[in-house]
Amino acid sequence: MKVLVTGGCGYIGSHTVCELLYANHEVVILDDFSNSKKDVLQKIETLTGQKPRFYEGKVQDKALLKEIFESQKIEAVIHFAGYKAVGESVEKPLMYYENNLESTLHLLEIMQEFSCKNFVFSSSATVYGSPKSLPIKEDFPLSTTNPYGTTKLMIEQILKDLSKSDPTWNITILRYFNPIGNEKTGLLGENPQGIPNNLMPYIVRVANGILPCLSVFGDDYGTPDGTGVRDYIHVVDLAKGHVKALEHFSGLRIYNLGTGHGYSVLDLVKTFEKVNGVKVPYKIVERRKGDIAACYADPTKAQQELGWTAEETLEDMCRDSYQYIIQEAKREKSLK
Ligand code: UD1
Repeated sequence: MKVLVTGGCGYIGSHTVCELLYANHEVVILDDFSNSKKDVLQKIETLTGQKPRFYEGKVQDKALLKEIFESQKIEAVIHFAGYKAVGESVEKPLMYYENNLESTLHLLEIMQEFSCKNFVFSSSATVYGSPKSLPIKEDFPLSTTNPYGTTKLMIEQILKDLSKSDPTWNITILRYFNPIGNEKTGLLGENPQGIPNNLMPYIVRVANGILPCLSVFGDDYGTPDGTGVRDYIHVVDLAKGHVKALEHFSGLRIYNLGTGHGYSVLDLVKTFEKVNGVKVPYKIVERRKGDIAACYADPTKAQQELGWTAEETLEDMCRDSYQYIIQEAKREKSLK
């Protein structure tokens, strides 16, 4: 299939581009580098031996979208592009609503105009809010606690309405749990600017001596060791889920992409220390506002309907994440 990947240079997008190419799909990337670096394109080529057609620009830009659909015979779209920082979305809600909603609306309008009606959307487990029970199934009640999450939920609603109005659309909504890790060579990975908000990017920087100490946000949750529990999923497994989604289009579908296992913050720290032979100093601090105690998926639906299962272990995720930061530090040093 010929697939347009918006945000194809980002963390999950770039891993998915590689998996699509490995599975012999043809890829066109649209990215504005707002949260990625240009060298990702070269890295994709190094890894896959292929150079996808690339367009630099914003998904909101309808003229650019038209140009892409006029010149490329796009058969399906995987839509990753969007702002995703929870804290920033609380400070700048209008920016988040404008960017995430407008880009998706423009993309869907142009797709409709060109009769391309196969769409995969990056949603998030954040749409389950604070779940009443675990593991989380796709039909659980939905709610959000911040504008970023609300954009995901609103787009899901737009997609449901679109599917109702025109059942010839194939729309697959993928709700990601907590992606970490990276492909095995350490070439592609997640490299947020400044101080990271998410746990694994923080841990690797402490292990590498860039940051002094991890703050563990609370040890008084109702979890086995008191720290927050999440369903960490290897980004390569997540990327493979998108390939499966493309190959199983059928009307409107919604899937959890998670492993089904919950690990605490301290489980992650201890596993990371063990597999990498490093120390990750940490201190317990106050809970972070808006955090929930525990969140993990029931991934049965994706297993049964897509034939997809996460395969990588927590050990793999910890090993790969550390490899990437070591390699990236070496690459940055060699450029200086
Ligand atoms: C967060 C977002 C979620 C988003 C996801 C992307 C919130 C409320 N949720 O999920 O919407 O889709 O990132 O991956 O922000 N922790 C520490 N110390 C740290 C950082 C995190 O103890 O320095 C803990 C947290 O309290 C939590 C766990 O680690 O228990 C995971 O946190 P994080 O990686 O930020 O992901 P989520 O909060 O689950």
